[in-house]
Amino acid sequence: MHRVIETVAAAAPEIRGGLAGRRVYDTAENPSGEQQLAADVYADDLLEERILALDSVAAYASEEREEMTVASDEGLHVACDPLDGSSNLKSNNAMGTIVGVYDTPLPAPGRDLVASAFVLYGPITTMTVAHEGEVTEYVIDDDGETTAVTEALTLPSEPVVYGFGGRVPDWPDAFESYAREIERELKLRYGGAMIADVNQVLEYGGIFAYPGLDSAPNGKLRLQFEGNPIAHVVETAGGASSDGEQSLLDVEPDGLHQRVPVHVGNESLVDRLEAVLA
Ligand code: F6P
Ligand code: MN
Repeated sequence: MHRVIETVAAAAPEIRGGLAGRRVYDTAENPSGEQQLAADVYADDLLEERILALDSVAAYASEEREEMTVASDEGLHVACDPLDGSSNLKSNNAMGTIVGVYDTPLPAPGRDLVASAFVLYGPITTMTVAHEGEVTEYVIDDDGETTAVTEALTLPSEPVVYGFGGRVPDWPDAFESYAREIERELKLRYGGAMIADVNQVLEYGGIFAYPGLDSAPNGKLRLQFEGNPIAHVVETAGGASSDGEQSLLDVEPDGLHQRVPVHVGNESLVDRLEAVLA
């Protein structure tokens, strides 16, 4: 496993263990204007310290801090969403940690990812990793040790589930007409933490989207910390990703915290979406 990903796995039990006492809102907002929970700040500080301690890492960036922390001139550039879906902490629903390991300075296109992964804090702690052209799902034990449970993971060819974020009245008409078709074909599964919702798509096949909205044409999710790593995992597992027009991995970034519409899942469903949005 990639060193950076191993480090995130090792930190996962500590992140999980620190959640119970940190369900309160902090006074600060993150660079996207979202109120931070104490748990967001805790996970971000822990990951920054552990990841920057690696000699191979030049810089650490996260959704929870405006500027990246640069440790050296050369090496890997790591982008984290320390606690994706952390608003689920209050209601005790699933959440995750997302990591993207880029070999070029950030902001970088998803094509520059050398590895990506997400930890899912569900009833068990799992980690899904895309590295060297393969996706592997691991179980992480209480000591941060990993055991591979699914190798060469691929999306099932027959899609079953869908989950779309954003309020329906805020969906552009074209997306709404697509959603009306999909809801007749697939089963709704939406929990409000992207990572958990995408993991259902990886497991059962289907499509997840947080589309561009009338009030926010670039949607909610962030390209460097969420869109790119998730697209890398889903595409490596044989699925597809799109910002509405092209693979998320081909989006040219223009800012560290920029948002992007995210659609990921079975290729046939993503192709249909692009045809409707065109
Ligand atoms: O990181 C942002 C996030 O928490 C995602 O995990 C999730 O998909 C989305 O926000 C949920 O947003 P909403 O509350 O608008 O459904
Ligand atoms: Mn997130």
